[in-house]
Amino acid sequence: MASAPAAAPVVVTGGAGAIGTVLVGRLVADGRPVRVIDNLSSGRREGLEAWIRQGKVTLTTADLRQAGSFEAAFQGAGSAWHLAANPDIRRGTEDPSLDLEHGTLATFRFLEAARRADVKRLFFSSSSVVYGLPTKFPTPEEYGPLLPESLYGASKLASEALFSAYAHCYGLTCYLFRFANIIGPGMTHGVIFDFFEKLAKDPTRLEVLGDGRQSKSYLRTEDCVAAMQFVGEKAAAPVNVYNVGTGDRLSVAEIAKLVVAACGGRARLEFTGGERGWTGDIPQQLLSIERLAQLGWRPTRTSREAVEMTVREIARARGLG
Ligand SMILES: NC(=O)c1ccc[n+]([C@@H]2O[C@H](COP(=O)([O-])OP(=O)(O)OC[C@H]3O[C@@H](n4cnc5c(N)ncnc54)[C@H](O)[C@@H]3O)[C@@H](O)[C@H]2O)c1
Repeated sequence: MASAPAAAPVVVTGGAGAIGTVLVGRLVADGRPVRVIDNLSSGRREGLEAWIRQGKVTLTTADLRQAGSFEAAFQGAGSAWHLAANPDIRRGTEDPSLDLEHGTLATFRFLEAARRADVKRLFFSSSSVVYGLPTKFPTPEEYGPLLPESLYGASKLASEALFSAYAHCYGLTCYLFRFANIIGPGMTHGVIFDFFEKLAKDPTRLEVLGDGRQSKSYLRTEDCVAAMQFVGEKAAAPVNVYNVGTGDRLSVAEIAKLVVAACGGRARLEFTGGERGWTGDIPQQLLSIERLAQLGWRPTRTSREAVEMTVREIARARGLG
């Protein structure tokens, strides 16, 4: 009997990061050989270690800005996922070249590597912040004009434009996912992580940036990865744009209360005031997930359930639960 053809390898940039590690786990479970490219700036090798030892994952420790340092990983691959980027919007405001280099330039290098190696199916982790300050809620994929309010958002939008142009110029299929807030183990930034860090330093008070009424969607990492894989199986236009969120939202003040409770409940909340938490913050975010639902996918948890689960996990990992 002829043996089944070997599954084509999958490239994952940023595969050592919080979302990347979960994606790599799913691909490995599907029997796909995975080639991770990551500079380990915010990602960690440990999350991949077991699969590397089993020969299921290879890790190229390289920076996507550096042409010539990582392209070999694309040879013979069947698809490639581009998740590597600076993940922290505030850092991009402090250093204006950060998102240009680790976002836009890195995306260009990724696309060039894919084009040269003839890898035709490409996936990209974009963000809800491409919508800027939307006036329509829930915000659908057709919303425009797209005018981001952060350099991170500008870089995500520029990257989407590059993906679209490459798809049309070189006959590729690309999947552009506009994420809400994605939360789960291994996070190194974001509101929940920040609150735990602040309370570890001073358990009596918790500074909350803004008036606490900022309200956004929170999706678990597992759901995010499942949604992307689902779309990859069902949609096949040259350029496929999908919001990835929960369809509901939770306020920052509610999250602060949940984290304070998990840390012993002693801290008083101190709001810095103002609608926005920080420059570039988008205080109200609710993505329409109708396009995903039409395709047949729905999240398994609400925003509140996702936040509660993540708070419990972090508290346990810090010996608080
Ligand atoms: N977590 C969210 O809420 C969210 C929301 C919208 C979009 N995204 C996007 O999803 C992707 C993954 O985010 P995450 O939350 O897992 O963050 P993360 O920081 O855990 O993962 C990013 C990974 O990219 C790597 N990396 C960064 N710059 C690189 C470079 N120049 N070359 C090679 N590797 C590099 C990091 O080491 C890290 O492993 C990012 O593109 C992020 O912008 C995340």
